[in-house]
Amino acid sequence: MSRHSIENPMGMSRREFVRTAALAGAGLLATGPSWAQDLQGAPAKSGGSSANDLRIAIIGAGSQGRFLMTQTLKIPGLRYVAVCDAWPYHQRYGANILKKYDQIVNVYDDYREMLSKEKDLDAVIVATPDWMHAEHANACLNAGAHVYCEKEMSNTVEGARSMVETARKTGKLLQIGHQRRSSPRYWHSIKMIDKDKVLGRITHCYGQWNRAQLLEQGWPKGEEMADDALKRFGYDNMDQFRNWRWYRRFSGGPLADLGSHQIDIFNWILKATPTAVLGSGGLDYYTEQTGRDWYDNAMTIYEYRTALGPVRAFYQVLNTTSYGGFYEQFMGDQGTLQISDDGKTGYVFREVTAKRREWEDEADKIEKLGRDAIELKIGETLASDGKKDPEGQKLLAESMKDSRLLHLENFFRTVRGEDKLNCPAEVGYETAVTVLKANRAIDDGVRVTFESSEFTC
Ligand SMILES: NC(=O)c1ccc[n+]([C@@H]2O[C@H](COP(=O)([O-])OP(=O)(O)OC[C@H]3O[C@@H](n4cnc5c(N)ncnc54)[C@H](O)[C@@H]3O)[C@@H](O)[C@H]2O)c1
Repeated sequence: MSRHSIENPMGMSRREFVRTAALAGAGLLATGPSWAQDLQGAPAKSGGSSANDLRIAIIGAGSQGRFLMTQTLKIPGLRYVAVCDAWPYHQRYGANILKKYDQIVNVYDDYREMLSKEKDLDAVIVATPDWMHAEHANACLNAGAHVYCEKEMSNTVEGARSMVETARKTGKLLQIGHQRRSSPRYWHSIKMIDKDKVLGRITHCYGQWNRAQLLEQGWPKGEEMADDALKRFGYDNMDQFRNWRWYRRFSGGPLADLGSHQIDIFNWILKATPTAVLGSGGLDYYTEQTGRDWYDNAMTIYEYRTALGPVRAFYQVLNTTSYGGFYEQFMGDQGTLQISDDGKTGYVFREVTAKRREWEDEADKIEKLGRDAIELKIGETLASDGKKDPEGQKLLAESMKDSRLLHLENFFRTVRGEDKLNCPAEVGYETAVTVLKANRAIDDGVRVTFESSEFTC
C-alpha cells in the first residue's frame, strides 16, 4: 500500500495524537456513555434479598424473555416477584429458572391481575409479541412501574406513539430493546467516525440479516393451549401463537423483527432520519405456509439528507440463505466500517487514496476480503507513557458482555438515578416510524417520503 503524509491537524505530539485517537475511538472522551467513566464490576449471581432490591416482574417468558431473565440475574440488587405469561408451559419454565436462584415468584396469565395484585413494582420487562407491547407497556407505566420493552416497540405507529405519550404522562422510564445502543463496540465505532473521521464523508450504508430458514417455533406435545384460552389472548391457533412473527396481525414483519435493530443503527450513526424509502419484498419461497402473510424476503433503500450530504442506505432480510450473516456497513470516501452485534465482526477498511493516519501503522491488521483491515480493538488504548490505559481495559471487559445485558444494566442504573437511558421511548419511536413505513413502500410498490415532523410526537 502507498504511504501518505501523516494527518495531525491539531498539532499534537505523536504520542498525544495516538492516545487521543485511541481514546476517542474507545468512547472515553467526554461525550461517551456514562459507563465509560463509571464502570461497574463483574456481574454477580443474585443471591439473598435486601430491602433495597428493586422489585421486578416480566410479562412474556418466551425465548427472549427468558434470555433477559437470565441476564438480569447477573445484575445485583434485583428481585423478581412475578412472572406473567399467557402460556402455562412458559409460566412454569420462567418461574423454575428463577427458583434456581432462590427467587420465588407469583405466576399470572393476565397482566391486569398481576398489576392489581403486585403493588410497588419498580420495573417490568415486557417481552411479549410486538402487537401486545403498547397494551402491556402502557398498563405497567400507568401502574407506576418503569418499563424495559423489547423491540419492535410496536407493530403500529399509533401503538408506539401511545407508549411515548404514556411514558411522558407518567414520568416513568421506558427503554426499548435496541441493545446495540448500549454496546461499547458501537460507541467505539461512533467515536472513530465522528472524532477520528476514519470514514471521511459517509455516502452509503448497507445492512443485512441473512439466515437459511424461517424462525419456526414449535411446542411440546401435550402443552398446547386450549382453543378458548388461545382466543382469550387473541390467537386462532397454536401456529399463530408460536409463530406470530409471520402474521401481520401480530408483527411488523421481518423488517421490524430483524431490521429494526440495524435500521436503528443507520439513524444513529448518520444522526438523521430518512427522507424517503423504497422497497421490494414478498412471500416467495415458503409458499406452503398457508395463513401466514409476512414477506420471507425484503429489500429496501432509504434516502437520507445528512449534515454532510445525501446518503443512500440499503437494507435486506433474507430467509433462504445465511450468506454473510448479519452486520451493518458504513461506506465513506476515506474508508468503510463493517460491524455486527455478533461480537466478532468489526473492521475498518481505509481507502488507499485516504490520507494515512499515524496510528494506522500501529493498529493491528487482519486480512478481510483480500485486503488489510484495521480490527476494532476496544480497550487497546495507549496512555501517554505508552502503556495500556486502565479505563480502556475496563471497557474491553464490558465489551465482552452480551449487549442485552449491557442494555439492561443501563436501564436499571437509570431506574436508580445513576445513568440515562440509551434507547428511550423517543428513539424507539423514530425507529418504529422508519421501519414500519418501509412496509408501506413494499406493499404499495412506491417510493414513500417522510416529513421530519413524523418522527416526533
Ligand atoms: N432484542 C433482541 O435481540 C430480541 C431477540 C428476540 C426477540 N426479541 C423480541 O422479544 C419479544 C418476544 O420474542 P420471542 O422470540 O421471545 O417470542 P416468544 O413467542 O418466544 O415469546 C413470547 C411470549 O409471550 C407470551 N405471550 C403471548 N401473548 C401474550 C399475552 N397476551 N399476554 C402474556 N403473554 C403472552 C407467549 O406465551 C411467549 O411466552 C418480541 O417483541 C421480539 O421482537 C428481541
